[in-house]
Amino acid sequence: MSLTLSQRSAHYTVSPIRELLKLTEQPGMISLAGGLPAPQSFPVQALRAACLDVLDTQAQGALQYGPSEGIAPLRAWVAAQLQAQGVAAKADEVLITSGSQQGLDLVGRVLIDPDSTVLVERPTYLGALQAFAQYGPRFADLTDDADGALPTLDNPAHRAARVVYLQPNFRNPTGQTMPAARRQQWAQALRGRSIALVEDNPYGELWFDQPPPPPLSSQLPGQSILLGTFSKMLSPGLRLGYVHAPQEVIAKLTLARQAADLQTSSLTQRLVLKVLESGVLEAQLLRIRDLYRRQRDAMLDALQRHMPDGVHWAAPQGGMFIWLTLPPSMDATALLPLALARKVAYVPGTAFYAAGAAPRNTLRLSYATATPKQIDTAIAQLGAVVAAARADHPAERSATTA
Ligand SMILES: Cc1ncc(COP(=O)(O)O)c(C=O)c1O
Repeated sequence: MSLTLSQRSAHYTVSPIRELLKLTEQPGMISLAGGLPAPQSFPVQALRAACLDVLDTQAQGALQYGPSEGIAPLRAWVAAQLQAQGVAAKADEVLITSGSQQGLDLVGRVLIDPDSTVLVERPTYLGALQAFAQYGPRFADLTDDADGALPTLDNPAHRAARVVYLQPNFRNPTGQTMPAARRQQWAQALRGRSIALVEDNPYGELWFDQPPPPPLSSQLPGQSILLGTFSKMLSPGLRLGYVHAPQEVIAKLTLARQAADLQTSSLTQRLVLKVLESGVLEAQLLRIRDLYRRQRDAMLDALQRHMPDGVHWAAPQGGMFIWLTLPPSMDATALLPLALARKVAYVPGTAFYAAGAAPRNTLRLSYATATPKQIDTAIAQLGAVVAAARADHPAERSATTA
């Protein structure tokens, strides 16, 4: 007997890329594919001390149900953090979520109807596309230039948009940062239109040389929904994130989350609050920035040494990713099995496109988890795969050397 599943369940399909990437668990594989934070960056001692303290001093609250919006002092902490970045945030405009991925799903539930137009960067975060796709929107791609997505809201295909989803800081997957001037253009273009800005900022604190410009949301009070997370600063296993939005939106998001999971774990919220109050976050951020900066440098250096001509990338100023563009005739999905055979994994770029045809010659590399030595080994292998593919395309060779 086969059961009748919902029409919505048809959106939940297995990606062939995900299947291929299961091979990354093989011994000896160096995975530059996942977006996993470096495990050695987890603040284990601070979390252990906080855990004991919470259970010694507030076990009843920590083990009990709590408010769906999140515990008040954590909402206040998030609001204060956002205020420091120029966002006029109040504690009752903050919803604590089980990771920012839950925030994206809740935003989809509350803002997107079937056929609503959602504007997205090209390429963009796969998890946001998956979260929004459940609600049946029409995705419309924005066009990028060197400064990021262009605010082309007068384009007839964009005018009726309900949501624009942007990652101005160290975008997953390109690593790109939107400069202040482009943020200003976006704010001007959006102001007064009934389009909600959904600004996803998981990587903002992972900057290398200087902090990124203030969130775009700081220029669009009342019109923006800002998502943040503790996944990249502390640990993703905690599953703790937040949404800042106008009060009436927070009220709806809260009702939607009550239907989903009632609340975020009381224990986790108190644990993380304790860690934040202990003042270790600043030192933790310094350590992570230093670690990722060194690994980024190792990857840039390895790319320089091992990639053949005709391969392009830009140096990210923060975050976890480098975006590679191969010569136009190459197909990063077709090359993946060859890279896996040489014990290197990456994510082909086609995974990150919503609407129009995706270029086949791009891929995402993460420098967050591998050591500098592993990065060098992996990029040398990848360079050999690309060089071999290039040797099969003599036309390309003469075109790029011309
Ligand atoms: C752009 C972006 N948004 C949201 C998330 C979800 O993060 P989390 O649910 O762990 O907070 C990720 C995770 O990689 C991400 O890259």
